[in-house]
Amino acid sequence: MCGIVGYIGPRDATPIILNGLKRLEYRGYDSAGLAVLQAGKIEVRRDAGKLSRLTELVQETPVSGSPGIGHTRWATHGAPNARNAHPHLGSTKRVVVVHNGIVENFLELRDELTAEGVKFSSETDTETIVHLVEHHIASGLDLTEAARRTFLQIQGAHGIVLLSADEPDKIVCARIGNAGGVVIGLGEGENFIASDIPAILEHTRRVIFLESRQMAVVTRDTVQVETLDGMAIQPQVHSVAWDAVSAEKGEYRHFMQKEIHEQVRSLTDTLAGRVDFNAGRIRLPELNLTPGLARKIEKIYLTACGTAAYAGMVGKILIEKIARIPCALEIGSEFRYSDPIIDENTIVLAISQSGETADTLAAMEEGRKKGTRLWSIVNAIGSQAMRIADGYISMQTGPEIGVASTKAFTAPLVDLYMLAVLLADLRGGIDEKTRRALVADLRLIPALAGKVLSRDAEIEKIAYTLKDIRDCLYLGRGINMPIAYEGALKLKEISYIHAEGYPAGEMKHGPIALIDENMPVVCLAPKDPWHEKMISQIQQAKARGGMVIAVATEGDELVASLADHVLWVPETPWMLSPVVTVIPLQMLAYHIAAIRGLDVDQPRNLAKSVTVE
Ligand code: F6R
Repeated sequence: MCGIVGYIGPRDATPIILNGLKRLEYRGYDSAGLAVLQAGKIEVRRDAGKLSRLTELVQETPVSGSPGIGHTRWATHGAPNARNAHPHLGSTKRVVVVHNGIVENFLELRDELTAEGVKFSSETDTETIVHLVEHHIASGLDLTEAARRTFLQIQGAHGIVLLSADEPDKIVCARIGNAGGVVIGLGEGENFIASDIPAILEHTRRVIFLESRQMAVVTRDTVQVETLDGMAIQPQVHSVAWDAVSAEKGEYRHFMQKEIHEQVRSLTDTLAGRVDFNAGRIRLPELNLTPGLARKIEKIYLTACGTAAYAGMVGKILIEKIARIPCALEIGSEFRYSDPIIDENTIVLAISQSGETADTLAAMEEGRKKGTRLWSIVNAIGSQAMRIADGYISMQTGPEIGVASTKAFTAPLVDLYMLAVLLADLRGGIDEKTRRALVADLRLIPALAGKVLSRDAEIEKIAYTLKDIRDCLYLGRGINMPIAYEGALKLKEISYIHAEGYPAGEMKHGPIALIDENMPVVCLAPKDPWHEKMISQIQQAKARGGMVIAVATEGDELVASLADHVLWVPETPWMLSPVVTVIPLQMLAYHIAAIRGLDVDQPRNLAKSVTVE
């Protein structure tokens, strides 16, 4: 889960790479580096730390030329120091590589290379790749064939980009398995390579996605795609609708803040083209869902990781309630070990912002192996989870850069609601009045989100009172129980405060012992079918001296009289309430972390897309 950028063309590669890496820094930020061909020699600049350190380094010792490749790293093998930073040069210093993934057989390969006299200068698995390429070049192969031979030797999943000082007219890249994408951006007399679209959006919107076990030879004017076995491929050129501006921070201090505040627009976009308010109907054409198929479905497995899995938990409730189809939510990393009982009447529905999360993709693969139909709800256009699915729903939220997911949580909640209504409709399991009412409720959602966002200053004030807490409990019931999990995840990942989400009804079975004056308790108590139960939960927490921060519906005097602080939300139809109740929790987490002076967009040890298992 590192970021990769490459450039070949008449311009200086250095600023193009630095800019591209800046947009990918969310993928990893332990170290960064670039390699540029300057006057026939490969010049490498790299160091530990964030991209700003690399930018300084390039200012201290400038480098310019083309082609060039760059990398921002999330360490897997070897500490995040300068020695282990990419790019890695071979012994001859004529070949250089950047890599995303793990060479699973690297110990074995390193032993073989060491026995041949190769000296390793880092602890990384990546370095084996460049030494192998050099080894094959020494035996008479050109860069392309030496790279191919190497790609066939290494095990695991990879995105790899290579260049050689002796063949300055090309860059060779490959994608093997699900270690993240390799995207080739097509320019005029220049071409770009990246692990992710935002890196190259300012230059082009015409892109080719490499599939697994494909490699490409990229020159200024041509892109030649082949399988690793040498079969030529006619790649499809995709047009990406995102623009570069949507990947900019604009007036906001952090991407996370911007993305929270973008939710009125992203929720509007999520509905666009899908909802026919006059007919009271939903259209999800990319799902390829027919009435015949809808009637055949006996079970839906929702699978995802982290925040996306919490969206899946809400989805399970919605689909079961509205479409009456049994659902199960299985965490992506567990799915394949749970030996799921699935057949051709089962759907595996993966939810993923990046569409590249290794565990979610592995769950999809398990579903494929067992002969089921695969669906996905994905944000990153052209990502693996979108491409391997039989049908998909695109989140339509634009790029999400902040590592903590926000707008890519609320969009799938709406997608899952729409899916539930569509399934119910196609199965003939819903009367017209109910269907129309459910569809009409969707119209309210963007404005309701906007109402919560307008309370930003109030929420920031509450955040000041909580900035020094060490622990926090989040409680919810029913459809807002997953929101307790999500609220706690948001707080812990960006503020490093220990936070737990819990089903409120489970408190009395143990966790209530934790509550005292040092344990703030966030209670999700909007006016939904579980409201009364949550009131008694708040009372129990207060009776034990806990400080209660309640998420409550505007005008709820009872909650206001019991809680120490209230995060107000507007009245919302209960099945859509998670879209609204999660927003103040996103804002609270954001403000607490920002007040603590933390790096909100790039929290420690995390990265945006987790392409390792
Ligand atoms: C938390 C967060 C992660 C992701 C998880 C899955 O804020 O962002 O928990 O939700 O890593 O990522 P995707 O959705 O890309 O599969």
